[in-house]
Amino acid sequence: MTTLEQRPDTAEDIYAAGGITVAKHGHHLGAVIGGITLSGDISDETASAIRYALAANKVIFFRDQHHLTDEIQYAFAGRLGSQTTTHPTLRSDDNKTLVLEAAASSWHTDVTFIDRIPKASILRAVTVPEYGGATTWASTTAAYEQLPDALKALVENLWAVHSNEYDYAEVANTIRDKVQDAARREKYLNEFTRTVFETEHPVVRVHPETGEKTLLLGHFVKEFVGFKPSETTALFQLLQNRITKLENTVRWAWQPGDVAIWDNRATQHYGISDYGTNPRKIHRTTLAGDVPVDVRGASSRIRKGDAAHFSVIEEPQRLPGFAAN
Ligand code: SIN
Repeated sequence: MTTLEQRPDTAEDIYAAGGITVAKHGHHLGAVIGGITLSGDISDETASAIRYALAANKVIFFRDQHHLTDEIQYAFAGRLGSQTTTHPTLRSDDNKTLVLEAAASSWHTDVTFIDRIPKASILRAVTVPEYGGATTWASTTAAYEQLPDALKALVENLWAVHSNEYDYAEVANTIRDKVQDAARREKYLNEFTRTVFETEHPVVRVHPETGEKTLLLGHFVKEFVGFKPSETTALFQLLQNRITKLENTVRWAWQPGDVAIWDNRATQHYGISDYGTNPRKIHRTTLAGDVPVDVRGASSRIRKGDAAHFSVIEEPQRLPGFAAN
C-alpha cells in the first residue's frame, strides 16, 4: 500500500485513487464530496483522499449518508484519525458521540481552551428542523492571508488566553432552552462548566499538514497577553470581523443524511439558531489534534486544566502539494 505521505501526486490523482469526486462549494472553503459511502471500512486510498480534500477545502460535505448510525460514524472517524471523548468537561460521558441540540450561535473554533485542539469534527444531521438551522464556516487562513503586512507583523507576535469560562450564563440558558431530555439537560448543566481550562495559544498558528498560517481566535478568547481588557476587545473585534467577512465563509443548509467534516485548525464555525422551537439534532464525532505552534516554532502553554483524558496528542504530519510545504 502506498500512503499519501509517500506520493507526490496531484490532488486529482489522489482523489481518483480514492474513488471520490470533489466539487468546490465556495472560493475560500467548502467542497462537496461524491462517489463514496462513509463507513469504517473505507480503503486507505479513500481515507487519504478525504484527508487531502479536507486539508485543501477546510470543510467538506457528503450527501445521502442515510445508512449512518453513531457506531458507523465513530468507526468512519477512526479511519481519519484518533477519536476524542465527547468533550473535555464531560468526564462521566461514556458516549462516543456528542448530541448537539442547541446551535452555538457564536463564532468559534471548537475546544480552543485546551492545549491539544481537535483537528477536525464530523457532524451528521439526524433531525433537521422545518426551517433554519444552517451552519456557517469561515476560513481563518484566508483571513490571515488578507491582512495588511503591518497587522501580520502584529498578530505573529501576539498570544491569546483561551478559556471555557467565557460565558457560563449564556451557555446555561441555551442548554435550558434547547435540550429536551431532562436527564441529559441536568448532566450538561452540572458538568459543562465545572472544570476550568485555560491555555495560551499563538494568534497565528502554522497548520501542521499544509504549512499555511492561520488565525487562532473565536469565542473562547479571554484576553490578549499583555493587553488591557478594552484593548483586547477592540483588537479581537477587528480580527474577528476580518475572519467572518461573508466572502470568507460558506453556509450549509442541512438535509437528512448530510455529513460535514471541518478542519478545526483552519476554520471557525457558527450554528445558526433561527429554527425557533423546531427540533434539531446533530451528532458530532471529534478527532484528536496536535498542540499549536507559532511562526517561530513555540508551542501553546497550559495555564489551567489537564485535557489528557479528552484525547491523545496527534503527531503532526505534512501533506505533499501545498505551497507552504
Ligand atoms: C458545533 O458548534 O460544533 C456544531 C455546529 C452546529 O450545531 O451547527
